[in-house]
Amino acid sequence: MSQENDVKEKKKVYIRTFGCQMNVYDTGKMKALLGKDGYEPTEHMADADLVIVNTCSIREKPELKVHSFLGEARKIKRTRQKDMTIAISGCVAQQEGQKLLDRYSDLDLVFGPDAVPNVQKLVQLSKSGKQVLDTDFLDQADYVFSAEIDPDAKKQVSAFVTIQKGCDNKCTFCIVPSTRGQEVSRPSAEIIQEVRSLVAKGVQEITLIGQNVNSYGLKTNEKTFAQLLYAVADVSGVERIRYTTSHPRDMGLDVVQAYRDLPQLCSQLHLPVQSGSSTVLRRMKRFYTRERYLEVVEQLREARPDIVFSTDFILGFPGETEEDFRQTMSLLEEVRFHSSFSFVYSPRPGTPALRLLDRTPVEAGVAKNRLIQLQALQQRISKEENRKLIGSAQLVLVEGGSPREKNLLFGRTGTFKGVHFEGDRSLLGQTVPVHIYQAFTSALRGELLGV
Ligand code: SAH
Ligand code: SF4
Ligand code: F3S
Repeated sequence: MSQENDVKEKKKVYIRTFGCQMNVYDTGKMKALLGKDGYEPTEHMADADLVIVNTCSIREKPELKVHSFLGEARKIKRTRQKDMTIAISGCVAQQEGQKLLDRYSDLDLVFGPDAVPNVQKLVQLSKSGKQVLDTDFLDQADYVFSAEIDPDAKKQVSAFVTIQKGCDNKCTFCIVPSTRGQEVSRPSAEIIQEVRSLVAKGVQEITLIGQNVNSYGLKTNEKTFAQLLYAVADVSGVERIRYTTSHPRDMGLDVVQAYRDLPQLCSQLHLPVQSGSSTVLRRMKRFYTRERYLEVVEQLREARPDIVFSTDFILGFPGETEEDFRQTMSLLEEVRFHSSFSFVYSPRPGTPALRLLDRTPVEAGVAKNRLIQLQALQQRISKEENRKLIGSAQLVLVEGGSPREKNLLFGRTGTFKGVHFEGDRSLLGQTVPVHIYQAFTSALRGELLGV
């Protein structure tokens, strides 16, 4: 079969990715799998034989992007001679399924996240002229994590490795359990194998990804998440380990201990809190209180004094009072998150919070105003924290050229701060000391030290 593929004419695939780390990862897998059938990635939709939009439905806004993107793709398809296959994958595909096919006659294929490993077969099928739909969830035992490596990983210093799919939590605001299905932990032997292959390609920083990584392995005889961290740290050549996303509920003392034992584990953690009010947290079904969250932060700080936290906030969740909001603001001050993603609550189809929304909605203007206040406070704190680094030397893993200025390099500190500095491109993939002399809200400017 592979010989046959070798002689096939080269075709081009254009993939647009929205959403989280899981979608970025799935896109990489699709590129690798389609590459086997002769598809080369292109940056230009107009050149593509196959267009895939890998979608996100976490809030209403990203979901709407899909429709404008489809409009663009259909226009190209209608005006050119060559055939073009249009596919929708990801969470909107899972959520809307057949409705998308009914609405857009130019659409050839709709498939959900569980079908990513079958992308080759699905694309083939869709060429028969009939619209194809695959939004089945697989049983836990049947789910296969694709072992293909994103072809772009070759050029990367840092790479994602998926350790689980789906989510078994039921946060009342969240669409993910219905778009990604049940949580399945990937066998640790496969994870370690993938880490080894990536390191052999020059990758130095591994980010373990899942929607709720701390619950890895809890429902099977697999390693626990903490044990997995030790196993990844054992792979020689892994310089830095990160993971995302972490749920405060499942952050155990064994993971805290790993911060004492493993120098490869970075001093940075994204720990979404959502709200600083225990009342709101209860309504969100997050299963921790404000106090418990602060206790986890404290434990981690004790184990790793220089650890830096980032988080996610939702403002205007149904029933959020002025007092609840003040508690969120004070939690931000107390933890001094170095950065955060914050959003106004967006009602999602089929989620339990819709019932609360009917009874206790927060007025749109009020929610927006709270978001603005929170973001202003975050900006101030981010800047203050970054300024503290002026005059210090930071170890920076060089990831590539700076996206801001052509002649600069870009890298990250262990605490995930982006640093722009002058240096030769031969430093790519090396960890170098950089003297920080300027600080912005979300980046640092520095100068290479003694090389
Ligand atoms: N698994 C992660 C979060 C994944 S979704 C966790 O449990 O923390 C990423 C972020 O999107 C969430 O942390 C939340 O802040 C935000 N989000 C999710 N659903 C949302 C909604 N309906 N409205 C607004 N923000 C939402
Ligand atoms: Fe959504 Fe909660 Fe699962 Fe995160 S843990 S993906 S917020 S249900
Ligand atoms: Fe979006 Fe699906 Fe990720 S809804 S955030 S792409 S899991």
